[in-house]
Amino acid sequence: MAGNTYGNSFKITTFGESHGEAVGVIVDGVTPGIELDEQYIQTQMDRRKPGQSSVTTPRKEYDVIRILSGMFEGKTTGTPLFIMLHNTDMKPEAYNDIQNSFRPGHADFTYLKKYGIRDHRGSGRASGRETAARVAGGAVARKLLEDRGISVLAYTKEIGGIKCETYIEDQIEKNAVRACDPEAALRMIEKIEHLASMGDSCGGIVECRIRGVLPGIGEPVFDKLDAELAKAMLSIGAVKGIEFGAGFAAAVMLGSEHNDEMSKSGFLSNNAGGIVGGISTGEEIVFRLAVKPTSSISLPQHTIDIHGQEKMIETIGRHDPCICPRIIPVVEAMACIVVEDLIKRQAAMFG
Ligand SMILES: Cc1cc2nc3c(=O)[nH]c(=O)nc-3n(C[C@H](O)[C@H](O)[C@H](O)COP(=O)(O)O)c2cc1C
Repeated sequence: MAGNTYGNSFKITTFGESHGEAVGVIVDGVTPGIELDEQYIQTQMDRRKPGQSSVTTPRKEYDVIRILSGMFEGKTTGTPLFIMLHNTDMKPEAYNDIQNSFRPGHADFTYLKKYGIRDHRGSGRASGRETAARVAGGAVARKLLEDRGISVLAYTKEIGGIKCETYIEDQIEKNAVRACDPEAALRMIEKIEHLASMGDSCGGIVECRIRGVLPGIGEPVFDKLDAELAKAMLSIGAVKGIEFGAGFAAAVMLGSEHNDEMSKSGFLSNNAGGIVGGISTGEEIVFRLAVKPTSSISLPQHTIDIHGQEKMIETIGRHDPCICPRIIPVVEAMACIVVEDLIKRQAAMFG
């Protein structure tokens, strides 16, 4: 019913609000006997946390995780893992000015319409803060996938119209925007800093590659691998579109160009992005996401208050001028959860 849980055989439930006491995740369906420590999960948390560079929000969420259940002597027991993160550096008073108004592009209006309650502190469940819990859950899935030889990597492909022209994998985590082209990264950073100084924001394109998934994973017809990835990705705030492989370019390709021909040694191309009929082909799974410009900007914009009166609003506060760099660990986390879930469902099929 309530939409706070994702997955079937490997399942996460996230809880908590951005300005409440804590956020966290309950992970169920974890294989017993897996060696896991808090530091492994913490490494992923540190990649998502704010305040990492001049192009992310200066908020200081230390994101220190605690595993409260599901472990014994450094190994998973197979019972639910409960992972908790206390919120720090909360400044609910920073939201006093907007307590009776709706920020354009944010979820204030729609949450009030749905729940009938206006909790103006931060953005509640619609905050990027909720995704910290997903990264913790995703780290558990990542560990299980690593043991199967599967890797998941996301990176920035484009920001504010500046495109990556090369792909240098070992440079991705070395630049502040996590771009695969270090030269383009410099121009992206310059653009974000300039827009932030003007009180504005920008979006971009994030690409994700999943390697090592054997052919045969995915549950037709409603739980296709691509359908599940699309749902998981679109559940992340600010993600507005997804395309697999050749994606939207397929619309103007000929069948003879788009078909991935086959030989004894495998597929000769990967326009399908590693998924056909909702099932993995064994090729690399590739998808791209459109990430919208951050809605919280300090330029004046037209809005209404909770009484329907028109007014101007400026969102003063600590926000990401571009969400791409911080969304990347979240994209990887959700991809890990989807793949681990579908692998477990495949295994269950053969008893
Ligand atoms: C990691 C992450 C950080 C985010 N940071 C901000 C932020 O600082 N300011 C903001 O307005 N939105 C931020 N967002 C986006 C909002 O959560 C999102 O726009 C909002 O929930 C409305 O949902 P929608 O854009 O998908 O419609 C962030 C999202 C993520 C995943």
